[in-house]
Amino acid sequence: MIPRCIIITGASRGLGAALARQWASPDVLLGLIGRDALALAEVAAACEAKGATTRIALIDVRDADALAALVLGWDDAVPVDLVVANAGITSGTRPDGALEGHQAATQVLAVNLQGAVNLVEPLLPRLLARRAGRVALVASVAAFRGLPDSPAYCASKAGLWAYGESLRALLGPRGVGVTNIAPGFFDSAMSRRFQGSHPFKLTGEAAAARIVAAIARDAGRSIFPRRMGFSLRLLELLPAGLADRAARLFRFKVTEG
Ligand SMILES: NC(=O)c1ccc[n+]([C@@H]2O[C@H](COP(=O)([O-])OP(=O)(O)OC[C@H]3O[C@@H](n4cnc5c(N)ncnc54)[C@H](OP(=O)(O)O)[C@@H]3O)[C@@H](O)[C@H]2O)c1
Repeated sequence: MIPRCIIITGASRGLGAALARQWASPDVLLGLIGRDALALAEVAAACEAKGATTRIALIDVRDADALAALVLGWDDAVPVDLVVANAGITSGTRPDGALEGHQAATQVLAVNLQGAVNLVEPLLPRLLARRAGRVALVASVAAFRGLPDSPAYCASKAGLWAYGESLRALLGPRGVGVTNIAPGFFDSAMSRRFQGSHPFKLTGEAAAARIVAAIARDAGRSIFPRRMGFSLRLLELLPAGLADRAARLFRFKVTEG
């Protein structure tokens, strides 16, 4: 699929900004969503320098009504080909050993899981009516196995992964594609908050390139690095005690955002 009208949440930096820059070309209209006006304007300028048309919206993905009104208005103007739920935050065990706590855990679920649902659901009836378009959900390899230091993040990504797998089975026969994305570590403001090892870490641009290529070939899943996704998926097949021992090899601390 070559998308022409693309909406991306979390487009102000990191992976979302890299995706926007890589899709930017003269035929493409990019709807860029985030909360940092200055950063979004810089990403938009870089995309326009490559010939793309852009529009920006400052919206918190937790605000379901505002997000629905925005994306339906954009879809009225130009039908959306691709919607990418990328906005995300993280939390976890702090450097002093404190647990993430109720407030942080709740926010992670609200942004990463509910925020994606807030983005996608309003558009689904339109995509189904047109029998066209694609939904892309940025989960994580952390979707495949709960890691000891980031319970809410893993839960949010496991929920998002399950949501995407369900949607793909539901919508595929009706002409709407779904790409479920599970990256391992890539360099960004988020991953720089993780104190610990970052195995097989990619640059943000390399991660974005894999996603752009997966969507271009209408892939249902994009999991990278594959060996990391495979290892974490394998843990689910082990007895709980053994799986927990292996999961404890992935220990880290998460600094304040
Ligand atoms: N980095 C990694 O190693 C890694 C690995 C696997 C998966 N991921 C996933 O990849 C996605 C992108 O991560 P990243 O590393 O690029 O993170 P990042 O650099 O921290 O960027 C996060 C983006 O999400 C936006 N955002 C956060 N909260 C928001 C909210 N409430 N409403 C609207 N936008 C919000 C931020 O924009 P504003 O600040 O402007 O709102 C920003 O553009 C996330 O879903 C993350 O979980 C990352």
